[in-house]
Amino acid sequence: MNEQQRKEQNILQSDDEAKNLKRIQELSSDDLISHYFQTTYEPTAPSLKEAKKRGKSETEVHYDFTIPEDIQGIGARKKFQIRTYGCQMNEHDTEVMAGILTEMGYESTTDQHEADIILLNTCAIRENAENKVFGELGHLKSLKRENPGLLLGVCGCMSQEEAVVNRIKQKHPFVDLVFGTHNIHRLPQLVKEALFSKEMVLEVWSKEGDIIENLPRVRKGKIKGWVNIMYGCDKFCTYCIVPYTRGKERSRVPHDIIQEVRAMAAEGYKEITLLGQNVNAYGKDLDYEYSLGDLMDELRKIDIPRIRFTTSHPRDFDERLIEVLSKGGNMLDHIHLPVQSGSTEVLKRMSRKYTRERYLDLVQQIREAMPNATLTTDIIVGFPNETEEQFEETMTLVEEVGFEAAYTFIYSKREGTPAANMEDNVPMDVKKARLKRLNELVNRQSKEAMAKYEGEVVDVLVEGVSKNNDEVLAGYTARNKVVNFKGPKTAIGQIVQVKIQESKTWSLNGEMVETIEVK
Ligand code: SAH
Ligand code: SF4
Ligand code: F3S
Repeated sequence: MNEQQRKEQNILQSDDEAKNLKRIQELSSDDLISHYFQTTYEPTAPSLKEAKKRGKSETEVHYDFTIPEDIQGIGARKKFQIRTYGCQMNEHDTEVMAGILTEMGYESTTDQHEADIILLNTCAIRENAENKVFGELGHLKSLKRENPGLLLGVCGCMSQEEAVVNRIKQKHPFVDLVFGTHNIHRLPQLVKEALFSKEMVLEVWSKEGDIIENLPRVRKGKIKGWVNIMYGCDKFCTYCIVPYTRGKERSRVPHDIIQEVRAMAAEGYKEITLLGQNVNAYGKDLDYEYSLGDLMDELRKIDIPRIRFTTSHPRDFDERLIEVLSKGGNMLDHIHLPVQSGSTEVLKRMSRKYTRERYLDLVQQIREAMPNATLTTDIIVGFPNETEEQFEETMTLVEEVGFEAAYTFIYSKREGTPAANMEDNVPMDVKKARLKRLNELVNRQSKEAMAKYEGEVVDVLVEGVSKNNDEVLAGYTARNKVVNFKGPKTAIGQIVQVKIQESKTWSLNGEMVETIEVK
């Protein structure tokens, strides 16, 4: 970093610090602290109706999380297991809960028979995600019978839904603890309550949500890590449950994020992924002008080889971000840009707030600034009343953009969302046939994109041994392609050059050309 950059960074830092301090001073009223970290517990059931409300209240940022003394040793000689479903946001929440439980004295275990506490960190995005969890609860019933002292908890997005909580109460009354996504910092108090209570402990706040900054975490890996930059979602796409389960959009202050990334760089992390349901809305709720582009421009200067972000909403993807991304370096040229549908009419009913044309314009803009960028996406087929023509528009858009991968889903009705009230005339077998056709197209495009790498040398961040063969190493390229190759185990955690010899639909095979780390 040169002198000028350092100066700029210091100015930004002290500016942020001043704002931060002001915020903390404003926040340090007694009532606020007492509400958040009160030791008592009052049963609170979820309400999707409450969760839908968006008021004008400012986000409260708390820097004062502590584990009460009497709870600190509660987990001594005991073990925990957390099973995670759903997106990276949940994976990261699991790291926080693991951090809290560790500070309470618990140790982690992968053996359910050894566990004194098992938490299911659940996902509500589609019906099959929920069914998996209910199936799991069925299995856990016998484990609970074998070991009545086992504390069984359900948390994550499903616990924010009344229907789910009612079903747990009726059909799975052996569950000891249910808590919501806004109650993670209350885990110490809730575990204590559950250990001493005969009743099911239920605390699910449906408020808009705040930010607790100083929560402990035990990160899953030492090579790649997640950093939340914002929480919640205000987009209310008509099919989606997330705005109800995660609360309003709220951004962490830049300084807190920058500090976290710096600390991870110092610990030797090679890649970080900035997380948010809609990261392009980052900064909109701060009381000064600051966007994701501005944040990325700061993070760019930190000595960490790869920085990703997910997930982008096309609506808020602005020129400033494109300009910063095109600077290269640790800004990667892979963009995940969920489109959901190629039909303007369907997009309107989904309330995505952009048209097919606007999406294509954005892709054009990205391609001009970053000619080598890889684009991937999310698509829903069979949205209520999607016509054959409208589905064809999705197919042509996939071709036109040239997506190299896509997560594709059949629309799943989520109670409480506007789309759940839309009548649907599309039979399930038609939806399935559309998904099949779409997947065939995406696979073909992925295969073609992969074939272009044959004979090329790519930089691979080596994560470990391959799933199928522990003689083989595996890692990802900057554009997120999986590469399997023969190489020494000392390469794990390094970025190495690999010559691609063979391409498959979803992965590349190659040979390491040298052991020198490239940045
Ligand atoms: N915040 C991200 C997406 C989070 S959910 C975004 O807006 O892009 C991940 C994906 O799940 C979505 O992109 C969407 O394709 C899919 N999804 C969400 N709700 C769904 C539903 N009710 N049925 C089927 N797929 C859904
Ligand atoms: Fe759901 Fe839309 Fe928010 Fe993404 S942007 S989380 S799809 S409401
Ligand atoms: Fe699922 Fe909640 Fe993520 S619904 S996709 S775990 S935000």
